[in-house]
Amino acid sequence: MSFQERVFSGVQPTGALTLGNYLGALSRFADYQDKYECLYCVVDMHAITLWQDPKELHENTLGVTAAYLASGLDPAKNIIFNQSQVAAHAEMAWVFNCVTRIGWLNRMTQFKEKAGKHRENASAGLYVYPSLMAADILVYKATHVPVGDDQKQHLELARDIAQKFNHDFADIIRERTNLEDFFPQPEPLIEGPAMRVMSLRDGSKKMSKSDPSDNSRINMDDDADTIAQKIRKAKTDPEPLPDEEAGFEGRPEAENLVGIYAALAQEPKLAVVDRFAGAQFSEFKKDLTELAVTTLAPVSDELRRLKADPGHLESVLKAGSERAEAIAEPIMKETKAIVGFVGA
Ligand code: TYM
Repeated sequence: MSFQERVFSGVQPTGALTLGNYLGALSRFADYQDKYECLYCVVDMHAITLWQDPKELHENTLGVTAAYLASGLDPAKNIIFNQSQVAAHAEMAWVFNCVTRIGWLNRMTQFKEKAGKHRENASAGLYVYPSLMAADILVYKATHVPVGDDQKQHLELARDIAQKFNHDFADIIRERTNLEDFFPQPEPLIEGPAMRVMSLRDGSKKMSKSDPSDNSRINMDDDADTIAQKIRKAKTDPEPLPDEEAGFEGRPEAENLVGIYAALAQEPKLAVVDRFAGAQFSEFKKDLTELAVTTLAPVSDELRRLKADPGHLESVLKAGSERAEAIAEPIMKETKAIVGFVGA
């Protein structure tokens, strides 16, 4: 079954964005803007599944909007908006809460990580987070979802939800639309050398904005000196760099830094391995710093410039929300009719 190709992705406004967010997601978004209709969402409703200070949430929402633009997204070509302004996300999430199974949610590793030991004290929103994420995507019948590797499991759940909805309502879908499937199976786009950027202090942990150590990550708005210092301090091992990819076995920190280099240089990892085969980390880190600074400086300069004009950012979100709503509204209406709600 063919659906119109449409891209959807989202980023949480929960603090300064990291190099992981940039390489795993934002820097790739602009690649799709000339090929597909794209929606890029600031997922403020996802953010509040953990406590957010309202003033900071407001500021961070504009911050992610600025980061989208600074990463090369053209607001005329792409639909850039914040989730809470399109009511259909919440409406669809409710329908999906009734489609998804508790057993499916219980398998979600991100819930286990985020809820930690105090599971009983986590918000109910955090638990059903993946069905809101499925709603984000499917309320636009999006077919392609560029994300980092950590979102893979959530994407699989979105596919399961789409399939179960199509199956549970198959007769009425056929009767009303003459189609087999109402929702597409959204495809994750997880491609490139930095789909899982790891902490600079511990190669077994994901680089994350919530890590208590600022030295564990590079932030998108770090200045050149800070970037240089963080790379200098990044954990490595005593061996020189390997001359083949198999040489990364048991060396997660080395593999991470080479992956970051490859993504920044937009080269395959193997090309970087070849170039630095046998080099000492001191030499490699010098080159990596230069590359990181020259690649990120124009983005962070633009980010600062855009953040200084909140009015402009707010108008981008408002216009984007209206365009997003125009796509979501008829899909939501049809969903309600399929479910059997009177009035739809
Ligand atoms: P979030 O806000 O945690 O992260 C935004 C994007 O950045 C990617 N990412 C990384 N990629 C590589 N290495 C890392 N260390 C790293 N850290 C983060 C994430 O994979 C993501 O692509 N649930 C999502 C937001 C969301 C969403 C959606 C995404 C809500 N609805 C619908 C796609 C489609 C999240 O929390 O991303």
